Amino acid sequence: MRRIGHCAIVFAWFGAHNLQPCATLFAFLHHLLAFTLVSALAVEFILLGQELSPATARRIVLADAVLGAAAGLLLVVGLARVFFFEKGAAYYFHSHAFMTKFSVFIAVSLLSIIPTVEFLRWRKPVRDGQVPAVSPEKLRFIKRVIHGEIGAVVIILLCAAIMARGGWV
Ligand code: HEM
Repeated sequence: MRRIGHCAIVFAWFGAHNLQPCATLFAFLHHLLAFTLVSALAVEFILLGQELSPATARRIVLADAVLGAAAGLLLVVGLARVFFFEKGAAYYFHSHAFMTKFSVFIAVSLLSIIPTVEFLRWRKPVRDGQVPAVSPEKLRFIKRVIHGEIGAVVIILLCAAIMARGGWV
């Protein structure tokens, strides 16, 4: 709780001083995290297409941890940009493109719980150097979910480009 209070003070300070270098830094972080997220998704998708071995399973578990961290930080950095560094919260919360982007992001985050729960289950066998016990149907389903997440990222990117240029308000 105290940590949230500290973050609010830091963001409020940034907002009050309207620091252009901070806006640039947050834009950089936003892109870095978005690219990391997409890369982690692609790695998961490709590895799930291969035969599952202890090494592959370990990489998938690692990629999913990177994906989760990138998504969490992206939400924090994105909201900081919304409230403090760009066109202002009033613009974004009245922008259809932003609301679509944000809703799809939240929906995908919730959807990603399905593969994450499965990959968390893999941690013990991976630690023991074993192949996780998972049916081919389950693997196919997880791969379809990740495919869907990649498709949703394409929608998010389209909305980002539209909202940044003041379109589809
Ligand atoms: C998978 C997730 C996301 C991806 C791939 C993504 C991608 C992008 C990209 C590529 C831009 C630059 C658009 C341009 O200048 O043409 C952008 C801008 C931005 N994004 Fe995201 N984003 C994601 C999530 C979020 C989230 C969760 C938020 C807020 C809660 C957010 C808020 C913003 C804001 C405020 C801008 C600046 C738009 C402007 O210049 O007016 N993004 N995003």
